[in-house]
Amino acid sequence: MSKSYNIAVMGGDGTGPEVIAEGLKVLNAAASKYDVKLNLTKYDFGGERYMKTGELLPESGIEELKKQDAIYLGAIGHPEVKPGILELGILLRLRFALDQYINLRPVKLYPNVETPLKDKGPEQIDFVVVRENTGGIYTGIGGAAQKGTPNEVATQVMVYTRPIVDRCIKYAYELTKKRNSKKKMLTLVHKCNVLTHCGDLWVRAHKEMGDKYYKDIKQDYAHVDATTMWFVKNPEFFDVIVTENLFGDIITDLGAMIQGGMGIAAGGNINPEGVSMFEPIGGSAPKYTGKNVINPLAAINAGAMMMETLGEVKMAKTIDDAVTAVLASGKIKSMSAGKMGLSTSEVGDLIAEAVSGK
Ligand code: IPM
Ligand code: MN
Repeated sequence: MSKSYNIAVMGGDGTGPEVIAEGLKVLNAAASKYDVKLNLTKYDFGGERYMKTGELLPESGIEELKKQDAIYLGAIGHPEVKPGILELGILLRLRFALDQYINLRPVKLYPNVETPLKDKGPEQIDFVVVRENTGGIYTGIGGAAQKGTPNEVATQVMVYTRPIVDRCIKYAYELTKKRNSKKKMLTLVHKCNVLTHCGDLWVRAHKEMGDKYYKDIKQDYAHVDATTMWFVKNPEFFDVIVTENLFGDIITDLGAMIQGGMGIAAGGNINPEGVSMFEPIGGSAPKYTGKNVINPLAAINAGAMMMETLGEVKMAKTIDDAVTAVLASGKIKSMSAGKMGLSTSEVGDLIAEAVSGK
């Protein structure tokens, strides 16, 4: 009997719908190969809907999304909406409402993809960042006083509890255990020399869980500032990184750059016990909207990650192998929008054909 999955499709803003269309093309090709059925439901949450109706993400929308198996998201962000409104009201709202406490961001350089790092290739750039996704400064706890006066005060607090840290570290250890890498090393990234409370909590949680349950996994620690240096100097050192929310946000933009740019970087907002959401991490790229020039590979990779998380490991691998093969063929000239030498839909066609084995 064929397996079926209910997928919420949220193209969102800008180039989001274009790249999601290519992702779906590839997912459908892979689904028919593995006798998997994808029941797609489209949602129009995003900047356009907000401008028309004033509505961001209604409670009823969240309740509907909770009933899906996964969410496939294009991009949120509209040039005519004040920065922060859509990001907080839709993207962060969903991460919190669905308790997607892991943000999984692989940093993998595919063959023939240009990295700005001299003398580094696919062998050297292949690690994963596990970013904590519902705590830290992103909880929004804090406040402001005497706004607009010379003595204005503002605070935004880094909030962590032991259970929130533990569940994230557990996910990261499990991933390190099952990941196909010889290093078997989990690096905790923090700033414990300055953040003596939150840093200390993460350091002890990482060590205690590793000592007790994951003796075969090497424990490693790096300060976040030094990590940005290692990403450039010695990316081959890393296997799996686990880090708190804001540090993870920052280092994964650098990670995306060393793997060839936003055109290829995918991420998953994961609730291992609930509904997860997958997205290309590059944003809505308004200036390329509707031009058929944006790179859909990040969205395609996000689709593969979605299927892997749903348990369709073979299907995910087939997509990843197709991406690798097409890139190795040299048919895609660059990862940058407008420079691929092919259109968005042509890249989607190539990957879908490689998936089908045509
Ligand atoms: C990301 C983004 C978001 C974040 C923004 C848009 C709220 O930068 O997914 O990395 O900070 O998490
Ligand atoms: Mn970010």
